[in-house]
Amino acid sequence: MFLFKDFRFIMLEEKAVYTTDNKVRMYSNEKDIEEQLSSILGQKFVDYRKKWKAVNNFELLTDFPLYLQVELHQICNLRCPSCTIGMPDSAANAKYVTDAHIDWELYKKIILEGEKYGCPALNPQGVNEPLLSPDLEDHIKFASQHGFIDIMMNTNATLLSEERAKKLLDSGLTRIRFSLDSATEDLYKKVRVGGNYDTVMKNIERFIEMRNASGSKLPVIGVNFVRMSVNEHEEELFIKKWENKADFIAFQEFMPPETEFDYSSMYPSDSVYHTDMREGFNCQQPWQRFFIHNTGEVCPCCAWFSSELSMGNVANQSLHDIWNSEKMNSLRSIHKEGKFWENEWCKKCVVSTCNMNDDHLIKIQNSKK
Ligand SMILES: C[S@@+](CC[C@H](N)C(=O)[O-])C[C@H]1O[C@@H](n2cnc3c(N)ncnc32)[C@H](O)[C@@H]1O
Ligand code: SF4
Ligand code: SF4
Repeated sequence: MFLFKDFRFIMLEEKAVYTTDNKVRMYSNEKDIEEQLSSILGQKFVDYRKKWKAVNNFELLTDFPLYLQVELHQICNLRCPSCTIGMPDSAANAKYVTDAHIDWELYKKIILEGEKYGCPALNPQGVNEPLLSPDLEDHIKFASQHGFIDIMMNTNATLLSEERAKKLLDSGLTRIRFSLDSATEDLYKKVRVGGNYDTVMKNIERFIEMRNASGSKLPVIGVNFVRMSVNEHEEELFIKKWENKADFIAFQEFMPPETEFDYSSMYPSDSVYHTDMREGFNCQQPWQRFFIHNTGEVCPCCAWFSSELSMGNVANQSLHDIWNSEKMNSLRSIHKEGKFWENEWCKKCVVSTCNMNDDHLIKIQNSKK
């Protein structure tokens, strides 16, 4: 169990608190989510999470990613100010967004290769609203039937009708997180622009009821709160509101969605990026995952601009070959050593995320000599 010294979390000491990276903290009433999933999914899940921990500590290099994030498309019906999609006029949107939906055959190729190498985890959501894909549930079901044991996604829940809820509950999904970032309607309107608070609440409550009535504990259901200056005052209210309804509550650290703009005013007052992570930063993502875009482009992380670090395309290469390529190995070694500045885009990413100035950077560089 990981207990936080931070006073805001003292009230949570009786709860299970779980984090693998300090950037997402999960709270639950009884067991932590890992334990809960272990008791439901068994030894295969336990083994995978053991590897996940070792990978996150840079102690284990697997021969295939443990986690695939496959972006089916790049569209959304909301315009949250925290997200690049909330800034439709930004240069990044013009540069990286296409209106394609991933080809079903390409998706199958990805999943079947994952099955071949025993890949345990999948997320069929990228920077998009996954429920906008009308056959999302078929994609999840296919992965579930082909060896993926932990299939998770986040959604804004605006399109979670009873019919979609039933399909999702039957699909093999193991974890779902509803992104809310607020505990009141007034704040919801500001942080989840375009969503209807009452509809979303009704959808989530109905989904929880349906899952409970199904007799299954899956998917485990969480509510998600990205911590920002505009909403930090509602964190405790959010916990009170959901602690006896959802299986877990996730607090996610705000990250600037782009490197071009100054997002410093959007961070919460005690952002971990401005404290702990300014002392050094080792990115775990190239050790954990591939993020595969709707175009088949294979990237080492979920950064919005991840195409800048493209490692190849699954349409004409195997994921296994890309994972074990010189380019991937070199990126992994940079991050194991904490020398993020050696990759131009990682430098931009970390400097903007941690709001580092030249002094912070020089201090870290000197410490790695
Ligand atoms: C990009 S969204 C895609 C899925 C879906 N549309 C949703 O909102 O849940 C995935 C997650 O990223 C979170 N998110 C959005 N902007 C963020 C930011 N700047 N920093 C950290 N997380 C962010 C969202 O709240 C959501 O939980
Ligand atoms: S709903 Fe999700 S993808 Fe859409 S704008 Fe909000 S955070 Fe971004
Ligand atoms: S750009 Fe580099 S540092 Fe940023 S998330 Fe991707 S791999 Fe990690």
